[in-house]
Amino acid sequence: MVVLSGSNSRPMAKELAQELGCQHHSIETRRFPDTEGYIRIPDEAIEAIRSDKVVLVSNTFPDSGIIETLLMLEAINDVRQGNVENLRAIGPQTLNDVGPGILLAIPYFGYSRQDKRFRPGEAISARAIANLLASRCDGIIVFDLHAPQVLDGLDVPVAFTSAMPELAEHLAKNVKPDFILSPDKGAFERAAEVASAIDCQFSYLEKTRIDAHTIVHQAKDLDVEGKVVAIVDDMIATGGTICRAADALRTQGAIEVHAACSHGLFTGGAVARLIRYVDGVHATSSLKNPRDIIPGGPALARGVKQLYRTLEWD
Ligand code: R5P
Repeated sequence: MVVLSGSNSRPMAKELAQELGCQHHSIETRRFPDTEGYIRIPDEAIEAIRSDKVVLVSNTFPDSGIIETLLMLEAINDVRQGNVENLRAIGPQTLNDVGPGILLAIPYFGYSRQDKRFRPGEAISARAIANLLASRCDGIIVFDLHAPQVLDGLDVPVAFTSAMPELAEHLAKNVKPDFILSPDKGAFERAAEVASAIDCQFSYLEKTRIDAHTIVHQAKDLDVEGKVVAIVDDMIATGGTICRAADALRTQGAIEVHAACSHGLFTGGAVARLIRYVDGVHATSSLKNPRDIIPGGPALARGVKQLYRTLEWD
């Protein structure tokens, strides 16, 4: 297996290559002055891509990540199919087709939140992006996807993987929480898994989102007096969900509050806002940010191994 990456997931790709004990190659990515993207597989990676199965690690966030991922998949498909003819006549112009063998590992799947049509005429964005990607690879690995059901019935197999084991290990070692809180029902299963791995108390809040910046939690008695609490969510964007939950915990006597997530989007000054409410912010390396301190490579490696079994590539 060969691991490839473009501009947005290189550290994660290197972590994955290390986990799998295989080579990593960087794909060249540039932007034209009008912002359009350019990608090229370097000469030294062409033979590697043709001689083994490949896994491309790439985020579909921000929007430029979608285009970059599609262009990289296009180029990888061409190289594997032997379509290497070029205007400068560099190297052989045709090669044999080496067959299927392209996996796409998406640490953070952008657009995962529009997974339903709430009003007539809306695009189900998650589905639209997933279909585009599935048309250019043999399988997809997705890392802590907000709503996994949105990828049901794709044309290629999908391996859902999670960094909750590594997140639990990180919290147990560095925070030593007495209590894990899920800030809404959506994060219930992930947070419960972390609580069970650490063997500590667990509860959840009921959240109503008024708009992108306003959320309300239903009042609930939590047994957190004098305790260290970690709030576990799949993603933190504006930080509003965490700040409101931290308020509820402090009011009820928590002495230390931490926020942990798989995907640290941290939009619009979220980290600065969060540190006024919590004692620590912990995220995985799925996105580059100042808090990406939990390794995501092991979770991706589990996903790759799962797809290998599904596709009978072992
Ligand atoms: C929503 O259900 C997600 O699990 C997160 O709780 C949410 O996306 C966090 O967003 P924000 O940080 O903007 O409150």
